[in-house]
Amino acid sequence: QMYDVLVVGSANADLTVRVARRPGAGETVHGSDLVESAGGKGANQAAAAARLGGRVGLLARVGDDAYGELLLNAQREAGTDVSQVIAAPGTRTGTAMIIVGPDGDNSIVVSPGANAALTPEDVAAAREVIAGSATVSLQFEVPMETVRATAATATETGTRVVLNPSPTPDRIDPDLLAAADPLVVNEHEAQQLADRSEGGPEDWARALRDQGARSVVVTLGGDGALVVDGEGKSERVPGVKVEPVDTTGAGDAFTGALAVRLARGDSLPDAARFAVRVGAAAVTKPGAQPSYPTLDELPA
Ligand code: RIB
Ligand code: NA
Repeated sequence: QMYDVLVVGSANADLTVRVARRPGAGETVHGSDLVESAGGKGANQAAAAARLGGRVGLLARVGDDAYGELLLNAQREAGTDVSQVIAAPGTRTGTAMIIVGPDGDNSIVVSPGANAALTPEDVAAAREVIAGSATVSLQFEVPMETVRATAATATETGTRVVLNPSPTPDRIDPDLLAAADPLVVNEHEAQQLADRSEGGPEDWARALRDQGARSVVVTLGGDGALVVDGEGKSERVPGVKVEPVDTTGAGDAFTGALAVRLARGDSLPDAARFAVRVGAAAVTKPGAQPSYPTLDELPA
């Protein structure tokens, strides 16, 4: 195998300011000093998986600017193979404007920049790389046709697809959903995609399986996760209690950790148990990638 995890997706420079109180429309508030750090849902998944010792590749596009350099350096430092990252001349690296409130919760606006230029042609050029990876991990911050092309290629070549459909659209293409093994969603996304006004995570996960997902993981923040595996067996994975500092990218850390453990042969519940620990560690430190643990740093 070439990689345990090939991440195909976004890379953003995260521009973060902490506030005591979120501004409403038309309002101005003072915030903390600006922090620039490495983010983007795809790049985050890759960094998380690589820090944990996985063999990881990232297929992404950045601009030929200083933020692109920052993101490439962060990946190299994490241990990701960046030979598939394209630094496109004349484009700007994707950016995320992030506000973190006192509770550690965030609000994010993403400007796609070079992420919008990751095309199905880039995916076609990486066919052998996809075929040679145990898992591909996908999110929704690059064009949908690019995500679909990757899932289709992975399905054809027998590579497992981990899909985190975030930011979440109203509905997911049925072929894409059918490739997801697992679909990784938070509670809010699960309910929205299941299109239910009632019920709980298990109902929504089952509904998503009925819609075609092979397996489903619903992340429950501090309460752990709910797993429904390929046989339809469900299991609750308990949470790990931590003091949240910044939840930015914690879901991406979870998904990257999950993908690497699945690639190494863990069952879905075992992989989710491990990923819950990684996600919990990530919320205890500021930023997305700067907060991701190595295996040694991971609390028991
Ligand atoms: O999931 C967190 C990520 O969302 C941030 O790193 C930001 O870049 C946005 O993509
Ligand atoms: Na964090």
